[in-house]
Amino acid sequence: MLRAVDVIQGKRDGRELTPEEIAFFVDGYTKGAIPDYQASALTMATFFKGMTRAETVALTEAMMNSGEVLDLSELPGPKADKHSTGGVGDKTSLVLAPLVAACGVYVPMISGRGLGHTGGTLDKLEAIPGFRVNLDLGEFRAVLRKAHLGLIGQTPEIAPADRKLYALRDVTASVESLPLISASIMSKKMAEGIEALVLDVKTGDGAFMQKYEDSKALAETMVAIGRGMGKKVTALITDMDQPLGLAAGNGLETIECIEALRGEGPKDMVDLSVELAAHMLQLTAVETTLDAARGRIRATLASGAGLETFRQVIELQGGDPRVCDDTGRLPQARERFELLAESAGVVGRIACRSVGHACMLLGGGRETVDSRIDPAVGVVLRKKVGERVAKGESLATVHANDRKRLDDAVQRLRTAFEIGETAPVPRPLIHTVLE
Ligand code: URA
Repeated sequence: MLRAVDVIQGKRDGRELTPEEIAFFVDGYTKGAIPDYQASALTMATFFKGMTRAETVALTEAMMNSGEVLDLSELPGPKADKHSTGGVGDKTSLVLAPLVAACGVYVPMISGRGLGHTGGTLDKLEAIPGFRVNLDLGEFRAVLRKAHLGLIGQTPEIAPADRKLYALRDVTASVESLPLISASIMSKKMAEGIEALVLDVKTGDGAFMQKYEDSKALAETMVAIGRGMGKKVTALITDMDQPLGLAAGNGLETIECIEALRGEGPKDMVDLSVELAAHMLQLTAVETTLDAARGRIRATLASGAGLETFRQVIELQGGDPRVCDDTGRLPQARERFELLAESAGVVGRIACRSVGHACMLLGGGRETVDSRIDPAVGVVLRKKVGERVAKGESLATVHANDRKRLDDAVQRLRTAFEIGETAPVPRPLIHTVLE
């Protein structure tokens, strides 16, 4: 008979666990038969000893099977999603998902909230008055059928083992483990009923994994898990050393996405959204080459069809679709403050994490999972890395609802900008593609 203590001891001593042992442990913990103290011993042992690929796939499968695995086979078309490991101003989901859906692919997007200095898709959607992210799975299917796109949060039915394990890891210092992170992310995505997944693994100062080698290891592990489970997976390792686009802060980012869907978005954000979307079209064989897929996405963007899909989804999920014509209907902060350059030169660096922290100080981010956030506040960059700035010119506009918070945020933001004499060596937007 399997015993939790033997599984813990096996991992502690560096033995490879069998899929049966892993399934037994995950199932027992989800049902409450295995207590928190044994689960935290196993996660900490895993933190130190790691897991083989086979163990990581078995863990992902066990976590996925702890809840409902969506069967979307009744929908007549390919199904794909994208997952990002998160960053500052990382808002591509709201641009690429409507574009891909408008090309005929079903996109059942189950997203997360922001935590710490990073933002989350659900918070950006909730900036839209009335938008409901907590649809039940029946409502989600109905929206998906009509619009080819649905945007919700993790439901209690999807990978409940991950919900419980993540909360435990969060308070026992065992989040930063490659197999545990990979299995956590992939168990939720693999439960979505998709056949193809594009991973956007961020690297740089504002990313979850700051070092390129760590981002690459995470990307490789997640690709291996997805392929091990029979899915088509591509990972892009992309830059998060400065915020993506110009806006950071939930409502401000939603505005930038609507502008992008109108064809007026900042270049880096639009280029990355198009690239990720093109990989989704290629993986689902809607287009055979990446070039054709890029062309199709650009044409869909230019036609306005992506914005129309976004409008339809907003309406179907209870939100006010008029935000697509008038972004002034999104929450607006009471105060605006221009951060002025103290010297002339070239922007050499924008410390990405500090911009995220400035947003948190303004009330736009979460210290803990229960924090309430202010959807109106945030930062809009006026200059990006490599751009020239004159003395007294604006580097960023800060949107605030509270004077004290504004002062703290401005102080933090001031330290984020480095202005020098010469332009820095530009970092690529996309570092590597794992196909
Ligand atoms: N995001 C997740 O969903 N899980 C982790 O373990 C870390 C980041």
